[in-house]
Amino acid sequence: MVFSNSNATVSASIQTLLKNPQTWIKSLTPTQSLFVGLGAIFLVSFLANAIVSRYRSGKLPPGPRRLPLIENLLDMPTEQEWLTWAEWGRRYGPISSATVFGQHMIIVNSSEIAANMFAKKSSIYSDRPLLTMFGDLCGYGRFLSFLPYGSLWRRRRTLIQKTIGTAASSAKFSMVEEKEAHLLLKRMRKDPDGLLDHIRMAAGSIILDISYGYQTQESKDPLVDLAETVMDGFGITLRPGAYLVDTLPILKYVPYWFPGAKFKRQAKHWRSLLQRFVEEPYATVKSNMKSGRFRHSFTSSLVEGSSLNPEEENDIKWSSAMLFAGGADTTVASLYGLILALVLNPEAQTRAQAEIDEVIGRDRLPSLRDRENLLYLNALVTEAIRWHSVAPFNFRRVMEDDVQNGYLIPKNSTIVINQWQLLHDPEVYPEPMKFDPMRFLPREGYTLPPDPRLYAFGTGKRICPGRYLAEASVFIATAMILSVFRIEKKVGDNGEVIEPIVHPMTGATCHMAPYECAIKPRDARAEILIAGEVNMGKDGIE
Ligand code: HEM
Repeated sequence: MVFSNSNATVSASIQTLLKNPQTWIKSLTPTQSLFVGLGAIFLVSFLANAIVSRYRSGKLPPGPRRLPLIENLLDMPTEQEWLTWAEWGRRYGPISSATVFGQHMIIVNSSEIAANMFAKKSSIYSDRPLLTMFGDLCGYGRFLSFLPYGSLWRRRRTLIQKTIGTAASSAKFSMVEEKEAHLLLKRMRKDPDGLLDHIRMAAGSIILDISYGYQTQESKDPLVDLAETVMDGFGITLRPGAYLVDTLPILKYVPYWFPGAKFKRQAKHWRSLLQRFVEEPYATVKSNMKSGRFRHSFTSSLVEGSSLNPEEENDIKWSSAMLFAGGADTTVASLYGLILALVLNPEAQTRAQAEIDEVIGRDRLPSLRDRENLLYLNALVTEAIRWHSVAPFNFRRVMEDDVQNGYLIPKNSTIVINQWQLLHDPEVYPEPMKFDPMRFLPREGYTLPPDPRLYAFGTGKRICPGRYLAEASVFIATAMILSVFRIEKKVGDNGEVIEPIVHPMTGATCHMAPYECAIKPRDARAEILIAGEVNMGKDGIE
């Protein structure tokens, strides 16, 4: 925003305002009038909110001391938020709060309280807060994950739930996940330094095949490019505090041409790309179905044999697009984090490879049917879900006043469950920063700690419906990678070992910062398995 005024002009202006308000108003330019109008509306609504909060009975959970007017604005973390919130948990207890411009944020660092709110009291804790830039201006709020708790959310959730929401329903996609894992091996062999790009390609291809039966092109796929651009806007605008309009929603009425309204032009750009991403692949599936040449997919199974009204078509379009929005980036973050854990823990890698060799042998690649026989590998994947929190926190909006642990939780507060803390609680997982698959290996006389899936994928009615699919994709990729590659720290030209950086980056989905590693086929047997023919599956889902 451009507010250009020298101090002298401001003080002269204030003097005129105090002495003669009518003259002052007449002296304003149209731009100044607009800001003054917006400021006045904001001030009135802020004061009304503050007064209501003050006289509401009950005490908010403890938290950092509030300053006049801006309250906790300066306390709000902007980097690795989960660490600050965990610190507040140690300082103020398992439930704490912060307030900015009258908007309360309740931070929960306890699994019991999270379950009590999100699962037991789900009828009032299943709504989501929506950022103005992200949800309203860019239009991402039409995705299921950000819809208000109500009938539209319920309809779209049912579509996704019945297609991928159980272990059995998501097993229909095993063949797609196995195919893409094998293609990933080939790309890793050809270009070991492009690991992150190859994982992106694999995760995007899995979801686009499942959603639309779409087969990605080997290089520069147009739909993958479009989807990733849409997701760039998603990631940039989802961060609380990134845009002033999220704190002052009234700014959304500022015209596009207005000085400083770059956010409105950005939003328009992302909104039109999003519309293309939702419409184009859906239209392609429909026209392919008409011609009778199509792969079965989430979209085709919902379209087939039904005469759909525009509302039902809209539900299908947005649900198909949701699979990419919810599934691609999260799967990338999860697998890339797991491979980093393998680089740092060669002994875990050796043990998993010994198990694969013993259970499967060296004549074929693993499949998802082998999963129940690979106990150590299962423990390793479980530990990876705990060690690197892909979704370090989870947001909800409370729909009514509530009381929790004796504290007032005012209606419309944003509730943050600090999932990172639940997965790194030293009382539950001793030495939480250590990657140790043995925590989850069942053995006699040993009581397993709580399964991290209880926290990593959320809780209650809005729990992640893609969790079975995500886990199967990560499991099969890990099993195939370990059956043929050794992944190690890289050695530089000067002979020195390059220590990979371990840095979970701030963002809606938490990615590990890019790291270096050396990827080498284990032996000649591995080369044969990598080079083998990929089962492409002619018709899509099984
Ligand atoms: C490692 C991978 C993944 C992680 C860690 C993850 C995590 C999460 C979390 C924490 C939530 C919020 C749940 C809550 O509010 O309680 C969520 C929601 C969601 N996830 Fe995932 N997810 C992953 C993969 C996927 C995949 C593969 C898909 C789909 C293909 C998916 C689709 C969704 C959808 C549609 C929602 C919104 C649910 C709703 O609001 O009703 N996710 N996910």
